[in-house]
Amino acid sequence: MTKKFIVLEGPDGTGKTTIIERLKEELCPAKFTFVKDPGGTKIGDQIRKILLDKNNRSISDLTELLLFMASRAQLVKEMIEPNLKQRHVISDRFTLSTLTYQAEMAKYGDLAQIVNFGLNRQPDLILLLDAPPHLTRKRIKARDLDRIETKSVSYFEKVRARYFVHCKRYNVKLFDAALPIDNVYSQVFESVAQITKI
Ligand code: TMP
Repeated sequence: MTKKFIVLEGPDGTGKTTIIERLKEELCPAKFTFVKDPGGTKIGDQIRKILLDKNNRSISDLTELLLFMASRAQLVKEMIEPNLKQRHVISDRFTLSTLTYQAEMAKYGDLAQIVNFGLNRQPDLILLLDAPPHLTRKRIKARDLDRIETKSVSYFEKVRARYFVHCKRYNVKLFDAALPIDNVYSQVFESVAQITKI
């Protein structure tokens, strides 16, 4: 059976990290590899630091877009492609995050085409965790927020709306992340189990 490339998406505060941690505990490491975008490689982790650093508020929109793409290019080459030869790969975010968070960059051309430049693998399944920004903002309030998390509620309203638009274009499964985490986790696990036939 060909190995599956699964992506977990959603705004911060939807429980994505908790769900990934639980999947890591439950799924056999011989059969699944977990990666994180941005980051997930030595070079990607350095790029991630630049991207999330609150002191880098002067970063230009284009620099931001290209850094997300650069981190991902390294992740695909170093982690995703080699691992998919032997096991399923679950990625914490991927191109759909760029299409929603950096959507303004469509002014430079066809953003989907730009974001996919040089990537020859698309996710087999995207699992999208959705919750309203008033709830996700409340959940992350106590954290030390990074540069992107400190953006306004209206920005996150737009991110949510864009995720919905893309839901219709890609193979996306939507989950109500306002529900208790155990409930969301079992639904996500079920989808992963179904596509990977574990
Ligand atoms: P994380 O906290 O889920 O690891 O993601 C880091 C932040 O980067 C998060 O606020 C979402 C944002 N992001 C983008 O703006 N564009 C992207 O392409 C990716 C992958 C993440």
